[in-house]
Amino acid sequence: MKRELRSLKWKTRVTDLLGIQYPIVQGGLAHLAYADLAAAVSNAGGLGQVTAMSLDNPEQLTDEIRKTKSLTDKPFGVNFAIGQHGRPYEHMLEAALKEDIAAVSVTGGNPAPFLDYVKGTQVKKLVLVAARRQAMKAEQLGADAVMVVGQEGGGHLGRDDIGTSVLIPQVVDSVNIPVIASGGFGDGRGLMAALALGAEGIEMGTRFIAVKECVHAHELYKNALVSGTENDTVVIKRSIGAPARVIANSWTDKILEIEKENGGYEQLKDYISGKANQRYIHDGVEGEGFAWAGQVMGLIHDVPSTAELFSRIIDQAEAIRSKWAD
Ligand SMILES: Cc1cc2nc3c(=O)[nH]c(=O)nc-3n(C[C@H](O)[C@H](O)[C@H](O)COP(=O)(O)O)c2cc1C
Repeated sequence: MKRELRSLKWKTRVTDLLGIQYPIVQGGLAHLAYADLAAAVSNAGGLGQVTAMSLDNPEQLTDEIRKTKSLTDKPFGVNFAIGQHGRPYEHMLEAALKEDIAAVSVTGGNPAPFLDYVKGTQVKKLVLVAARRQAMKAEQLGADAVMVVGQEGGGHLGRDDIGTSVLIPQVVDSVNIPVIASGGFGDGRGLMAALALGAEGIEMGTRFIAVKECVHAHELYKNALVSGTENDTVVIKRSIGAPARVIANSWTDKILEIEKENGGYEQLKDYISGKANQRYIHDGVEGEGFAWAGQVMGLIHDVPSTAELFSRIIDQAEAIRSKWAD
């Protein structure tokens, strides 16, 4: 009885659109979100996503999608960060669309050609943006929903430094499609706050790294998320117009130093490369690389299973709702 009540009550336009039980989306996570994590999130009732652009070629993406399908019969998505120095994505998108997936999400560049490509299919189109004008543009271009990330978030951010609690209601007032709030969410309080702001779901990135099924994240990375506080992140790459939040360490100190001296992309490129990222997040060589993370790391205190995390979030949100109803 209780279960029925829950699934009924968690119905939003986002759960309807994506065919999921709870309005919780796992963000694209470069070099971390593969089949194990995506399937665990979808099995727990959210929308898991495989991150396409961390894979080398369409064959690998097809394999990863098929592996995800072997682990879950629930809907999941495929994420495309298309801004990576113009790396072509069309062949990857084509491979994904052949596999009968529920959704694709796109970020990092002009989504117009991407959305055109997907138009006319059953696949739902999510666009991750960081500003109101981008959300309006995404709606105009045919997005089915927008995910909107505020300044607290991990990874790439908007250039305007607007926090989630101001950005979300602004976007909600500016578009008709459903809004998924992102940046700083990690528990049931955040979920309820997002819904109160007018969003119809949340996207979480950093929180889904510190779960058991994020098997590609090194223990050291997970430990840093657990032991770190909200003061332990810093924004790099601002000087090259692509601000992004990372865990502060000696490597990011060097990056900031180069940026302060107007080093430019050429001087920065080895420090901010995918290789430097993977040295930290896969190999656990903390002093020779960097790791994306949001301020929500101040709210992460353990590494539960994804199912346990969902159950906590929903229980906490339910408790808030009961309190409000009293
Ligand atoms: C390690 C990491 C990698 C990310 N990689 C991607 C990516 O490849 N594609 C994408 O759309 N977003 C990416 N993001 C952004 C997340 O999907 C999400 O928008 C963000 O993490 C939300 O903020 P939160 O970390 O406070 O939950 C990444 C974030 C992190 C922390």
